[in-house]
Amino acid sequence: MKDVRCRPAGVEDFTFLATMLGEAAVWRPDKPTPTADQVLTDPRYAMYLAGWPRRGDYGLVAEQGGPVGAAWYRTYTEMSHGYGFVAEDVPELSIAVIASRRHEGIGRRLLIDLIEASVAQGHPALSLSVNGDNPARGLYEAVGFQPVEEHGSSWTMIRQAAQSN
Ligand SMILES: CC(C)(COP(=O)(O)OP(=O)(O)OC[C@H]1O[C@@H](n2cnc3c(N)ncnc32)[C@H](O)[C@@H]1OP(=O)(O)O)[C@@H](O)C(=O)NCCC(=O)NCCS
Repeated sequence: MKDVRCRPAGVEDFTFLATMLGEAAVWRPDKPTPTADQVLTDPRYAMYLAGWPRRGDYGLVAEQGGPVGAAWYRTYTEMSHGYGFVAEDVPELSIAVIASRRHEGIGRRLLIDLIEASVAQGHPALSLSVNGDNPARGLYEAVGFQPVEEHGSSWTMIRQAAQSN
């Protein structure tokens, strides 16, 4: 973990981000992970990346001899949004770490750095959606996200920027 570097994600990272979106979309280890191509043709998930990088998008790639994880956020509208939408000025984040590099602290590092970037960019909060069974929920709580709403089996969580000050 000590040699893992986090850097801003660019247009050239689109395919890796799509691969990570597949990991986040179907996170249960016993279910097949959709490929980048599959996730990008599924309208439920493609909206989290289509046109990357769109105005207002921001992301980080964790690297160590190649990309090992990514976290990014994007804002949505009342008319067009995904599961974790709370408001047009609150970006929703997505995150995944490649399966062979989980539990090393890379996800936490990506989250903390992404939160810091969102505060620096003046966003009032960040939101996300997480399945109630996903152990990632504990990690989100540890970095300051709080559950605000339940949709079926998923929770929308918010982290207010003000708590970082
Ligand atoms: C969620 C995820 C990004 C966390 O990244 P990571 O590098 O493994 O996380 P870290 O090592 O920084 O932190 C691990 C913590 O996350 C939590 N956690 C996340 N996934 C977990 C899992 N499958 N099993 C156990 N704990 C898990 C635990 O609280 C754990 O804390 P611990 O290590 O003290 O037990 C990664 O597990 C992942 O890519 N999962 C699949 C995709 C996904 O679910 N994305 C989020 C969708 S909302």
